[in-house]
Amino acid sequence: MNILRFTNLPGDGIGPEVMSVALKVLETLGQRNGFSIETTEHDVGGIGIDNHGSALPDTTLSACKDANAILFGSVGGPKWESLPPKEQPERAALLPIRKAFELFANLRPGNLYPELADLSPLRPSTVSNGIDVLCVRELTGGIYFGQPKSTQTLENGEEQSIDTMVYKTSEIERITEIAVKAASLRQKKICSVDKANVLETSVLWRKVVSDSVQRLDPSIELTHMYVDNAAMQLVRDPNQFDVLVTENMFGDILSDELAVICGSLGMLASASLGTGKNRLGFPFGLYEPAGGTAPDIAGKNLANPCAQVLSAALMLRYSFGMEKEASAIESAVKQTIRDGFRSGDISSGSESVGTIEMGEAIIERLPA
Ligand code: IPM
Ligand code: MG
Repeated sequence: MNILRFTNLPGDGIGPEVMSVALKVLETLGQRNGFSIETTEHDVGGIGIDNHGSALPDTTLSACKDANAILFGSVGGPKWESLPPKEQPERAALLPIRKAFELFANLRPGNLYPELADLSPLRPSTVSNGIDVLCVRELTGGIYFGQPKSTQTLENGEEQSIDTMVYKTSEIERITEIAVKAASLRQKKICSVDKANVLETSVLWRKVVSDSVQRLDPSIELTHMYVDNAAMQLVRDPNQFDVLVTENMFGDILSDELAVICGSLGMLASASLGTGKNRLGFPFGLYEPAGGTAPDIAGKNLANPCAQVLSAALMLRYSFGMEKEASAIESAVKQTIRDGFRSGDISSGSESVGTIEMGEAIIERLPA
């Protein structure tokens, strides 16, 4: 029997509730499809700080190193907001874990099901057929990690801070390769987003993306867009895009914009793929919902588990090579929405169901 070994890091807020749904979905699918899951749970984020004095405890990190993939919940909350920024759960857990596993490729699918079109802040005429855009964000380079990064006091007593935006050819080549692979399974269109009218890193970005696409698959339709224009085009007509590929900070911003035009953060999954391969020969990856910890509804059976469940589907697809099973989960979620099940965030004020009930509805719709 195929055993899926991964660590699960539920984290804070709604993390544990939605994680428990995702694990049940995987277990049930496994019972019906001849695989089982072997997963260990570890603290990360605020609960890591509380229990071990660190947002990314050593025990958690070493458990991740032993696993084939990480299923991540979400981290942060009001309890830890008064800590210095560097020590807050989001930054102190996510950034080091991305660096430790060189998780350079962040895939954020922006999907709006037509059934949920009225949740989008965009005009019905723009989104009545739904939205389907994939944002491929570079995740371990650029201004997030570039050195020097520091604050010093000048001779005149004022403070000065520096962040450094830096990219090498190889970093741009490898993220382009991921975008090309993704686009070849979709509409074969890539729009690369940069700020080449101002930034040196963007001039290099544009050149390397062009060369790489030409080398890897010249049949892909490649366009380039400045980031300010891309932010505008995304709200004007999101479906003009198929795959967006961009550097770390632009991707951070554009992926939040994509998330909100898709209606609810509770529906969006993400995958962060590393340079390393797991024991099965697939990319090691971290899979997490886009929505955050939603502390206001945590522990109340109100959270939408779909994003966590869809993140588990991405884990099967990318880190375990189980495309059929991944699609089965995605279809079950889609059918649950079609059949009218709505958690509070997607109910537009009408009747809603809880986290557990939403999970049961998904499980009922898994293939027998
Ligand atoms: C994200 C988040 C993180 C980022 C923060 C919490 C460090 O906004 O995953 O998009 O900026 O990458
Ligand atoms: Mg962000």
